[in-house]
Amino acid sequence: MKRLYLDHNATSPLRPEVRQEIADFLAGNCGNPSSIHTTGRNVRRKVDTAREQVAKLIGAKPSEIVFTSGGVEANHLAWHAFEKAGKKIATTVIEHSCIRGASEMSEQCQAQVHRICIKKDGSICPSEIEKLIAFDPDFVSMHHANNETGAMYDVKAISQALKPECYVHTDAVQTVGKIPVNVNDLGVDYLTISAHKLGALQGMGALYVRKGSPFEPFWTGGSQERGRRSGTENVIGILSFGKACEVIAAKIERIGSQYSALRDRFEKGLSKNLDGIYITASTQPRIGNTSHIIFEGIDAESLLIAADLEGLDFSTGSACHSGAIDPSHVVLAMGFDPEIAKGAIRFSLGWSTTEEDIDQAVAILSRLVTSIREKKRQTA
Ligand SMILES: Cc1ncc(COP(=O)(O)O)c(C=O)c1O
Repeated sequence: MKRLYLDHNATSPLRPEVRQEIADFLAGNCGNPSSIHTTGRNVRRKVDTAREQVAKLIGAKPSEIVFTSGGVEANHLAWHAFEKAGKKIATTVIEHSCIRGASEMSEQCQAQVHRICIKKDGSICPSEIEKLIAFDPDFVSMHHANNETGAMYDVKAISQALKPECYVHTDAVQTVGKIPVNVNDLGVDYLTISAHKLGALQGMGALYVRKGSPFEPFWTGGSQERGRRSGTENVIGILSFGKACEVIAAKIERIGSQYSALRDRFEKGLSKNLDGIYITASTQPRIGNTSHIIFEGIDAESLLIAADLEGLDFSTGSACHSGAIDPSHVVLAMGFDPEIAKGAIRFSLGWSTTEEDIDQAVAILSRLVTSIREKKRQTA
């Protein structure tokens, strides 16, 4: 059975060009990029090219890219220089859980953390911006788009509203590769990217660090990444990352509208076939590939299992801890009732999604939701 994959925000399948890049490298290369012999220097050149490809996609200089093991590490790395007593850090209540982790670690280090609240429609109330300015942060970390709802945040406006000495980080894991992202237009000092969300290998990512911004490595002892991340580079991961960025850069102006056309087709199809569906953050600017839907009277886990049996993949925002299903912290923080939050589902499209996939997904979901609701009515 060909599976219908609508979970690109979790991870995106390897792009064919990336698969080829990896196969070509594995077929004929070895060598440590730090070695000074020819074999090592050949690999170094490939790593340098990949760094240029990643930097180009976000309008950065290659020297400002630090390769990491992924988005989580890059996010923590951006925070690390500010996790100190007396520092004032601000973030939102709906960031990825790793930023929540970083904020808790910062508090343990006696930094002061201010959390920006988000309204039920996904927006930020102007009074929250006033509170942020009054807090007078040294460092703000705000995601560019939320990984569950797809709601986008005006990082540029926030950065402009703050004093020039405040450093700004954005977790752009869910926007890079889907829309044009430029570090200078956004006015950020740090930006996080994850390779596997772009159709490259998992376990790979990067932190953009604007020249001159505070930076503290987690570990030292090697000169790799200009001393910012010691350890022999994950060469295969880096080459896969660079290739994905190169492929995406050639068509980035078109990708956003292609994704939103598919997303709109999906949402229109479901809205036509089903009553009682609520599309989260639909009145806000949203990243074009993401559709976050609450189906009235439906338990998201039951729908996920039923759809899985029919070959359709998507995510619920909920997490399973010790056998109990917890509703998503994002949906709860936006003010939804916990029972309603349990019905939230994220569909996310990507480079491999076709109109046919969308139509089939709409047909499967419409049938399953109708039948689950019908069974519930009969047993009520
Ligand atoms: C917004 C956001 N930040 C960070 C991450 C973590 O990235 P990685 O899986 O590369 O560590 C994710 C992954 O889901 C994400 O969606």
